[in-house]
Amino acid sequence: MKALKATCIATSNIALVKYWGKRDKERNLPANSSLSITMDEQLRTTTTVEFSKSYKSDEAQINGVRLKGEELSRVVGTVDYLRRFSKTQFKARVVSENSFPTAAGLASSASGFAALTLATVKALQLELQPRQLSVITRLGSGSACRSLYGGFVEWKRGTLNDGSDSYSEQIAPETHWPELRNVIAIVQAGRKKQSSRKGMQQTAATSDLYQRRLAQVPYRMQRVKEAIRQKNLGALLEETMKDSNSMHAVMLDSYPPILHLTDASRQVIDAVHEFNGALGDTAAGYTFDAGPNAQIITTEKRAPAIGKILSEIGGVQSVITCRQGKGPQFTSKHLF
Ligand code: PMV
Repeated sequence: MKALKATCIATSNIALVKYWGKRDKERNLPANSSLSITMDEQLRTTTTVEFSKSYKSDEAQINGVRLKGEELSRVVGTVDYLRRFSKTQFKARVVSENSFPTAAGLASSASGFAALTLATVKALQLELQPRQLSVITRLGSGSACRSLYGGFVEWKRGTLNDGSDSYSEQIAPETHWPELRNVIAIVQAGRKKQSSRKGMQQTAATSDLYQRRLAQVPYRMQRVKEAIRQKNLGALLEETMKDSNSMHAVMLDSYPPILHLTDASRQVIDAVHEFNGALGDTAAGYTFDAGPNAQIITTEKRAPAIGKILSEIGGVQSVITCRQGKGPQFTSKHLF
């Protein structure tokens, strides 16, 4: 019998139109569509999954640390869901490594759950359609289904109750706009990050602004898709900044408020507007996920200047310049 073992490398993604809020908690269905750019291999997770009769229970580790409790349950949830499609009842061992510091809060769950789902599917030798893969990946982490492809990726909200029309799809490959760069500033986390899952519930339950944001997103999605199609940098960056501001506004409007941006994050916002103002053009645009780290979308030409500005801001610990990634890859170099 062939070894039930596979290794996948998936990379993180940064949302230009953010996912914040669910329309169905159990099925992990989003309240709005979202759109992201997949990052290159500097921000990658490598995951090896093996099913064997020698394992007594499902076990998992990330960067050498064994998972327990809630974290282990999420990983086992994905593994177990897929195992039911196969003929095996063997338990699994999952070993995962992040190329970037997990503590830096750079969407490791997106690359992590994309790599986990794909490695598990391959280890079990399952034949799944792209939409099925997408649906299963988002059960582990919503934003992970956008890491299943390279380039620009949309995750559709869908309207069906069973969630079968809420899946991810590539809208343009990484070769469409190769000059784009993401200059990431890792800043000191001001306070411990609350899980997105809890934060989203808090916003949906308490923020009046939230419904307004949801009503706006379909128009923003259209404008962003159009800007990508036409390679209209100014329009893309303006919508990206406005959407990040909108998500952080509904976070602040939640009660108690969810505060992720720190002084360093706010200095980055000011610096980007100053940079664009001096240039008389919108050539850089910031976006922040549920954390204080800034991601500045710009072009190859402007990336060195942006990198320099960011590194001079107090509280910025390091700067990473990423290109767009080509999506997940399998490798025969297993982690164990
Ligand atoms: O996929 P989750 O449940 O970790 O949610 C992440 C949501 C944000 O990162 C804040 C925004 C996004 O669309 O990636």
